[in-house]
Amino acid sequence: MALTFISKILFILAFLACIAKVQSQLFDITKYGAKPNADISEALSNAWKEACGSTTPSTVVIPKGIWQLTQVKLVGPNKSPIELQVQGDLKAPSDPNQMPNKQGEWVTINYVDYLTVSGGGVFDGQGQEAWKRNDCGKNQKCVKLPLNLSFNFITNSIIRDVTTKDSKNFHVNVIGSQNVTFLRFTISAPGESPNTDGIHIARSKLINVKDSTIKTGDDCVSIGDGTEEVHVENVVCGPGHGVSVGSLGKSETEKDVVGIYVKNCTFLSTMNGVRIKTWPSAPARLQVTNLQFEDLIMDNVTYPIVIDQEYCPYNQCKLDTPSLVKISNVKLNNIRGTSNDPVAVTLVCSGTKPCENVEIGDIDLKYDGKLGPITTKCNNIKPKLTGKQNPPLCAAPAQSA
Ligand SMILES: *[C@@H]1O[C@H](CO)[C@@H](O)[C@H](O)[C@H]1NC(C)=O
Ligand SMILES: *[C@@H]1O[C@H](CO)[C@@H](O)[C@H](O)[C@H]1NC(C)=O
Ligand SMILES: *[C@@H]1O[C@H](CO)[C@@H](O)[C@H](O)[C@H]1NC(C)=O
Repeated sequence: MALTFISKILFILAFLACIAKVQSQLFDITKYGAKPNADISEALSNAWKEACGSTTPSTVVIPKGIWQLTQVKLVGPNKSPIELQVQGDLKAPSDPNQMPNKQGEWVTINYVDYLTVSGGGVFDGQGQEAWKRNDCGKNQKCVKLPLNLSFNFITNSIIRDVTTKDSKNFHVNVIGSQNVTFLRFTISAPGESPNTDGIHIARSKLINVKDSTIKTGDDCVSIGDGTEEVHVENVVCGPGHGVSVGSLGKSETEKDVVGIYVKNCTFLSTMNGVRIKTWPSAPARLQVTNLQFEDLIMDNVTYPIVIDQEYCPYNQCKLDTPSLVKISNVKLNNIRGTSNDPVAVTLVCSGTKPCENVEIGDIDLKYDGKLGPITTKCNNIKPKLTGKQNPPLCAAPAQSA
């Protein structure tokens, strides 16, 4: 008796689970006219629009295969959770002039709640041609190249198991978003590609980047102003420029940065490991507070740990007025490996806003000595030291080991 009762219950449960599954409606782009070797922008937009209107959870499917995508803007609001399942390989036009909206990104997703991007596919920006024309580092009036993926005003969402490759500019931009997780996300571009930041996050809250691999030509993750609660965990970065907060302070309208956690990450031959950079001679009076960098491995990293409040590339500014950005409540702990420059740790804080409440735990960095002995550079900072520091931090230069 009891057995059949239980089996009946199990049957009902299985039946309910089945209904729940069926309820996710599929919107396959091939049912909306998508054809291989032709632009799928319109088919994808149309499938997306119908999926957004669905009152039950929906899945837009880009099946396996190679698809040309000129440019697309997928906009909410959506009535129910929506999944964009990218199984195939999406190719951007290699010439950015083919994109109808020259100011826009390649793929933009705006105003969506409960979005999932999944499927194991690739967003291929085909940036090789465009990189050659990029001089934005030196020329402020340069022609901006399009971004790869832009998520604006996205909430409660997850982007997992997809790859973005060879973007012409930043790979992923996250603006005005809340509670977004990048999981098992792969970014891949050559170390020499200019301005190809991996994930740029600004004006957002609760953004996670986890279990991911980022190989690119600029910052792996860069954090702009107005950002709170960013967790970067179990990420392998390199080649690239590391995880950066900033540059900050250039514009008066910038907002504070609060709560940045970088944990259990590995940096492979990157230019920097973890870095905070702010502009001198700049108007913004910001707070940058509650930052934790811990359990990090530096493998042949040029500058493993950097606070630079005199950030001034290409002499675009003057150093005579210190930065007005206040950095406080910073914890650095258990950071080890090898540095590729004798200055393994740089902590250069502002003369008018010295760094406050900086705690540094175990640091163990080695340098091969080619360009002199390993050293650290400290200004306007009195860190509280615990555990062991190798090299000795902020020590007087004459001190011997
Ligand atoms: C964040 O979003 C996920 C869905 O991706 C949801 O399950 C979770 O409850 C949200 N968390 C918060 C704090 O809103
Ligand atoms: C640390 O990150 C690596 C990936 O780089 C992962 O394999 C490992 O499980 C993580 N460890 C913990 C304790 O999360
Ligand atoms: C160390 O990093 C530099 C770039 O900073 C790179 O040129 C060099 O090949 C790397 N060495 C190894 C052994 O990976």
